[in-house]
Amino acid sequence: MPKILEIITNPNKILRQKSENIKSDKIQEYDELINDMVLSMVKLDGIGLAAPQIGKNIKIVIINMRNGVVAMINPKILKKSIFKEWGEEGCLSVPNTFGKVRRYKKVTCEYLDRTGIKHKIEAKGLMARVIQHEIDHLNGILFIDLAKNIKTLKQA
Ligand code: CO
Repeated sequence: MPKILEIITNPNKILRQKSENIKSDKIQEYDELINDMVLSMVKLDGIGLAAPQIGKNIKIVIINMRNGVVAMINPKILKKSIFKEWGEEGCLSVPNTFGKVRRYKKVTCEYLDRTGIKHKIEAKGLMARVIQHEIDHLNGILFIDLAKNIKTLKQA
């Protein structure tokens, strides 16, 4: 049975380290972890989750798209649009905090799925934003490093 994983919050050095690629013949070893990450993201109402957020510096991200949940292994941005746009972001690892981040409007992204098949997708809008946010996690970057108008909601 998949389980809900503990989310690491800022500050923590795991969130600041670069993540390692996963060798394509080792992907199956991460099947249970991916199931746990999917469940954790859905339960916590996230639209994306990167492996460093659950304490592992490996290149896995889970994204909650309109048409379902996708696990991306070794995701890489191949192409970026000329134009960028500002949008509000938050992060499960930076609780109760929001800010505006300028991101590419469109990105072309390559990744392996959990069966090791390579995909190339073009994403725009929120999907493009989430991909950029999650890939930043794999490089030790948090949205608060890039954001303006950062607001922290006070807990009642
Ligand atoms: Co995040």
